[in-house]
Amino acid sequence: MKLTRACLAALCHLLLLECSTVNATWWLLGMQSSIDLQMTSNTYQNTCQKLHYLVARQRELCGLDRNILQSVGRGAKTGIEECQWQFRGYRWNCSTFNNNTSVFGGVVAVKSRERAYIHAVSAAGVAYSITRACSRGEIAECGCDQRILTRRAKRWEWGGCSEDVDFGRMFSKEFVDSNEERNSAEGQMNLHNNEAGRRIIKKSLVRLCKCHGVSGSCNMQVCWRKMAPFREIGDKLRKKFDSATMMRTVRRRRRLRLKPKYPRQKRPTRRDLVYLEDSPNYCDRNDKFGIAGTRGRECNRTSWGMDGCKLLCCGRGFRTEVLELSEKCNCRFVYCCHVQCEQCNRTVERHTCN
Ligand SMILES: *[C@@H]1O[C@H](CO)[C@@H](O)[C@H](O)[C@H]1NC(C)=O
Ligand SMILES: *[C@@H]1O[C@H](CO)[C@@H](O)[C@H](O)[C@H]1NC(C)=O
Ligand SMILES: *[C@@H]1O[C@H](CO)[C@@H](O)[C@H](O)[C@H]1NC(C)=O
Repeated sequence: MKLTRACLAALCHLLLLECSTVNATWWLLGMQSSIDLQMTSNTYQNTCQKLHYLVARQRELCGLDRNILQSVGRGAKTGIEECQWQFRGYRWNCSTFNNNTSVFGGVVAVKSRERAYIHAVSAAGVAYSITRACSRGEIAECGCDQRILTRRAKRWEWGGCSEDVDFGRMFSKEFVDSNEERNSAEGQMNLHNNEAGRRIIKKSLVRLCKCHGVSGSCNMQVCWRKMAPFREIGDKLRKKFDSATMMRTVRRRRRLRLKPKYPRQKRPTRRDLVYLEDSPNYCDRNDKFGIAGTRGRECNRTSWGMDGCKLLCCGRGFRTEVLELSEKCNCRFVYCCHVQCEQCNRTVERHTCN
């Protein structure tokens, strides 16, 4: 009950009235605050069953443990925030809408490389967040990776809590992939990219160690494995975005498969991103796809990259404003006891696209 009461009025309106007609998804969980996803009552399984924007399998998984929904929500949010950070200087900046059931707006209707990134980073977000929740003991069904303790190591011993990424990945696969239709080109693309996101997580495990032994001699080390900060996963996926492969579908023994569209391209590995359609034009406003266009976006005059005025403004040019900022400066400590500052003026230039 708490969930429905607390959620955004606009969102509820969409969910309750239009849930049977539009294709809303679990990404909506990332738009809600963590508190709203907290399930305190013992009837949380019933609450799960009422979440119409989840498919049946997802509602079932939600009922597995009272902390699942919050962890999935945290994962979705982590993915969305990472996407917005990675693409902050791009024409498409991963903007989200909380008045639309599709969260990322109409752009996800195009099977583009942007969509590939969204899928990979959000599937990775769920695997990451569930894995972390397991190692913190927040979910009864999982915990630390015990299997690693039996592994032989040369100069150290495994101990402590190694994060169980296999559980997180498996959960993410069950939860996220149950939204996809296996027998369509689009479903194949999404499944591939979801899996690519999850595989990057496994690659990003780092070993941390602690010394033991008499007076800092460190003749005994205890080590455990932990996932790298999510930023690293976002960075790696951004590189995969840059080198994503365009695919086409072929039917082989009545099964749909993806193949590189251009024969000279190398076959993508399972950690690479794939897409099926060229991106729409993100330069100009397009209401059909909910694309805001780059007019009014702030750009960097000295950059030759995507965030530079030349590329971001799509050749339309830009305006420069000179802003006068007044801020505290030359602060010093006065005995006794306060800090005295001067007021300094500083001018900055701000460039925005025409
Ligand atoms: C959502 O809100 C934005 C402005 O915030 C508006 O441009 C857009 O049309 C709205 N979309 C829907 C589906 O209501
Ligand atoms: C809202 O989402 C629907 C698909 O669910 C899409 O067709 C529509 O274009 C979106 N609207 C905006 C403003 O992005
Ligand atoms: C993305 O760009 C739009 C303008 O096109 C801006 O309103 C929005 O704040 C930006 N979003 C992010 C996450 O930077």
